[in-house]
Amino acid sequence: MSLRPRSPLLAAILALATGPALADPHPDAELVINDEIELATRAPAPDHLKEVFDTVYSGWLFRTDETRALEMDDFDNPAMVFADMGVDLWNAADGSEGKSCASCHEGIESMKGVRASMPKINPAGNDIWSVENFVNTCRTDRMGAEAWKWNSPQMKQMTSAISLQSRGMPISVKIDGPAEPYWEQGKEIYYTRYGQLELACASCHEVNMGKMIRADHLSQGQINGFPTYRLADAGIVSIHQRFSGCIRDTRGEPFEAGSPEFRALELYVASRGMTLPVEGLAVRQ
Ligand code: HEC
Ligand code: HEC
Repeated sequence: MSLRPRSPLLAAILALATGPALADPHPDAELVINDEIELATRAPAPDHLKEVFDTVYSGWLFRTDETRALEMDDFDNPAMVFADMGVDLWNAADGSEGKSCASCHEGIESMKGVRASMPKINPAGNDIWSVENFVNTCRTDRMGAEAWKWNSPQMKQMTSAISLQSRGMPISVKIDGPAEPYWEQGKEIYYTRYGQLELACASCHEVNMGKMIRADHLSQGQINGFPTYRLADAGIVSIHQRFSGCIRDTRGEPFEAGSPEFRALELYVASRGMTLPVEGLAVRQ
């Protein structure tokens, strides 16, 4: 499945953004955090993507020098405050059982590896769950607490704290066995054209990767950096929030955050970056 840029509107938008050939990801920038944690931002494409790309790139390589610098030092990274708030929530008792996450899971470090494996098949084996679903199941079924809304500040703080524990671990989602139908559904969505502009995810992030669209440099749309601090929103953006924003840019009607469609899409997009490490809180414009 591959797409040619057929939309005349997209052609017009892309054509407007002329100027120097800003066609590629940064050729040699290296992501080293706090001068010690080296995170690969270029990796061989996973097998299922080999016909499309040789190399997968972190979105970090497509950002400006200033934005990239913010992710290189946890002191400067504005996302870290939210992860700290997530750890506070982790330790706070809530709900009718008087329990906190720590009552059962002990330290937040016990979440190491969790973000790298998400989304995955749920314990009942009949659905694909994002980390948000696991968090809410513990809240409602094990703590007697209310579910958090998908994009609520609390949920994003918690997923930020959880994600940070997997920093540097390659994305390792399962895409075969019971996950396969969800992966296929996600792939279908990825290549479906949405909105008045009739654009698929692939129209921008595959066919036109590296080009400028308005003032933005198109990346491969990888999710290994999520949750992400977006300077434009002055806050944390969840994976599904980013998907919604992109579909809205096509003047289309996005699926709901947490919907089956977005969870399937999340699995497929995660699998496109399977060789990239979890950045555990990226910073983007
Ligand atoms: C009463 C005990 C209990 C409490 C309290 C609890 N959990 Fe859990 N949690 C479990 C059990 C049991 C599982 C399923 C088995 C496992 O994976 O450890 C689980 C699974 C999870 C998973 C999925 C892990 C994986 O690898 O699949 C996440 C994420 C999680 N919990 C987060 C939280 C968060 C966040 C909180 C607090 C808001 C919380 N839990 C509170 C017992 C609890
Ligand atoms: C009209 C073009 C366009 C379409 C269509 C589009 N996006 Fe995007 N997307 C962008 C732009 C522009 C950005 C910000 C710059 C970048 O990272 O590419 C972005 C960013 C992203 C990011 C953040 C990447 C990072 O590292 O921060 C993800 C993830 C993403 N898109 C996923 C998707 C998915 C999934 C779809 C299909 C539902 C989609 N996009 C459709 C234009 C588009």
